Amino acid sequence: AAPTRYEAESSPAVCSGTIDSNWSGYSGSGFCNGTNATGAYAQFTVNAGTAGTATVSVRFANGTTGARSSDLIVNGSTAQSVSYEGTGAWNTWVTKTLTVSLNSGSNTIRFNPTTSNGLPNIDYIDV
Ligand code: GCU
Repeated sequence: AAPTRYEAESSPAVCSGTIDSNWSGYSGSGFCNGTNATGAYAQFTVNAGTAGTATVSVRFANGTTGARSSDLIVNGSTAQSVSYEGTGAWNTWVTKTLTVSLNSGSNTIRFNPTTSNGLPNIDYIDV
């Protein structure tokens, strides 16, 4: 099936920081600028028609030269770690594709940063 887009600025998504729109190229009305702190997460609530593996594409920008990192926490359990390379500029967005295991129905997908640099700016996920 075609993926569904979940915007970081749209409830029930949660952004532990601010919804900003000062860097161009985002989808929707803005993006999540998470606080630069460990644990300042972006969380999405996604629906899956059936249980099983699903592809999650996360769109982000990291205008610094260093990679940022997070845990990917699905329904409360850490599934994997994710590294977000520098994209060259805050208005250069890239998409990273992840494979996750989802339950049938509602699921929470949380990107929980593991260093005090926090997350990159997060635009959306497609699931
Ligand atoms: C800059 C940039 C923000 C970004 C932040 C960061 O302040 O303008 O959009 O979120 O750096 O380091 O995370």
